Amino acid sequence: MDPDADEQGYQVVTDSWLHIADGKVQQIGTSEYAPKVKPGTPCIDAEGKLVTPGLIDAHTHLVFAGCRANEFEQRLNGVPYTEIAKQGGGILASVTATRNATEAELTALAIPRAKALARDGVTSIEIKSGYGLTLNDELKMLRVAKALQQHVHLHITTTLLAAHALPPEFAHSAEEYIEHICDEIIPAAANENLVDAVDVFCEKIAFSPAQMEKVFRTAHAHGLMVKGHTEQLSNLGGSALAAELGATSVDHLEYLDEAGVQALATHGTVATLLPGAFFFLRETQQPPIDLLRQYQVPMAIASDFNPGTSPYASLTLMMNMACTQFRLTPREALQGVTCHAAKALGQTHTGYIAKGMQADLAVWQATSPAQLSYQVGTSPLAFRVIKGVQHHGE
Ligand code: NIG
Ligand code: FE
Repeated sequence: MDPDADEQGYQVVTDSWLHIADGKVQQIGTSEYAPKVKPGTPCIDAEGKLVTPGLIDAHTHLVFAGCRANEFEQRLNGVPYTEIAKQGGGILASVTATRNATEAELTALAIPRAKALARDGVTSIEIKSGYGLTLNDELKMLRVAKALQQHVHLHITTTLLAAHALPPEFAHSAEEYIEHICDEIIPAAANENLVDAVDVFCEKIAFSPAQMEKVFRTAHAHGLMVKGHTEQLSNLGGSALAAELGATSVDHLEYLDEAGVQALATHGTVATLLPGAFFFLRETQQPPIDLLRQYQVPMAIASDFNPGTSPYASLTLMMNMACTQFRLTPREALQGVTCHAAKALGQTHTGYIAKGMQADLAVWQATSPAQLSYQVGTSPLAFRVIKGVQHHGE
């Protein structure tokens, strides 16, 4: 147990100040030793408030067109998610709508979603492609994702998820599509500097572990990080393989077994839990939380915001669901959207409040960190600080 931690394991410092310059935390101290501030120096007043690292949503599919409320209704009338996917609905329904949308239309649709996350204390988000599935449409999605930074105060990282579903043009051969991803799409996305990481949906209704491996090897050859959607609907061993291949995170994990957990621990891979998708799909198989704790695998929590399985643009709602659905403690939930989320993105400059870290903060009208996982719908956010700059709006 950390000697500085309180009884719930937090490291809450009271009566303190941060010196921020050049967008970074330069020094932290208690008020006794507060530095003399020259008159006119800009100050951010957080008196009486709780300051946490800015929240990080490490897994979203925020850029898409179309609405899948009809499938929600179908599922509630008894048609399973996998059946809807086989009938050409599911991910492919969003692909059709997204292909038909222009960059301007996709941007207009994405802005309010990103703003909703920002209003909830989020300062960084990851956005995946994966509803284009052609070279041009995947690049279009990534360009829209990157350009969102001009409309909302957020740091954005992007992930190429061309291996999300088999597009109709390649229905005859998944292998050919994987080759197309490796030979054309990854090199183009990397050359245009549109992407930080590459993701694969490794599942019976999507791509095999061997296909994931090919994509990951190509991603590495282009200097890109890798991560996976693994063990969401069945256990194919994708998480363990992804971890061996250096994935920063594997995500979903309801069907992860002990060998998989062990592999994550061995390779330092983050387990990203997506309680929104679990809840919305009315999944009953729980991710192996106790094993993840036992093997000390860092657990991130993300929204997985998407039109099919997690239409929830609130990271504090995900913290609440991580606690109520997966029995995480509020402290684990907070780590899941800060330091562990940063690690899931391969970042070392965000997720903590410490000397030298980027000054991204969420300032809350709250007295205890547990409040952030507790109440939903009345966000206690007071304001955010991004690279040292205070933002009251989005
Ligand atoms: O993370 N699991 C695969 N991909 C998304 C779902 C996408 C969709 O249904 O549109 C997810 O849950
Ligand atoms: Fe996802």
